Amino acid sequence: MLRIAVFVSGRGSNLRAILEEFSEVNSTVQVLAVISDKTDCGAFEIARVKNIPTFSVSAKEKEDFLSYDLLEKELQKLEIELIVLAGFMKKIPDKFIDLYPNKIINIHPALLPSFGGKGMYGMNVHDAVFASSAQISGPTVHFVNKVYDAGLIIAQRCVDISKSKSPEEIAEMVLKVEHQLLPFVIKKISEEKVMIEGNRVLIED
Ligand code: GRF
Repeated sequence: MLRIAVFVSGRGSNLRAILEEFSEVNSTVQVLAVISDKTDCGAFEIARVKNIPTFSVSAKEKEDFLSYDLLEKELQKLEIELIVLAGFMKKIPDKFIDLYPNKIINIHPALLPSFGGKGMYGMNVHDAVFASSAQISGPTVHFVNKVYDAGLIIAQRCVDISKSKSPEEIAEMVLKVEHQLLPFVIKKISEEKVMIEGNRVLIED
């Protein structure tokens, strides 16, 4: 069984997709903690309904928030093996990233290495894609390193946006595919079918 923690900031539709995919009692993947940079958000509501422990984290000292050092202790207690960033909007401190080499993945709502980097989150991404005249977009799942959206790409899916009339339409189409791609990658990691070979990531069938 793969023990995962999911980091969120918003409505949590990707968290919901993960929980639905791995809902069986003896599923090979279990979500054991949900972490946010907020004290409340849609994703926390989803976690609470499922009785999954929630933690708020901040890199700065703040009441009601754990430091990353304390969060790490909690994750150790839960024996977390993989961290999944599913709409987590804050940069994770380098020291924390060092603790989880190739054990943190992120979903980005565009085809990296385009449309990524600092400031490229939420609707900013889809606005930029729409403005660029690109005819395709789609989600990317990648390993997290210390540079925004620059870790090795694990999987991507193309979405035809040639008929899209607005950034919102693109966001909706890409989100649907995110809900398939992220659980797919988590499942493959749980089956040890995700291999890093030099600068490329291979997923076995
Ligand atoms: C998704 O589009 C994800 O790719 C991006 O933030 C959004 C989160 O949506 N990083 P949700 O909270 O999972 O609904």
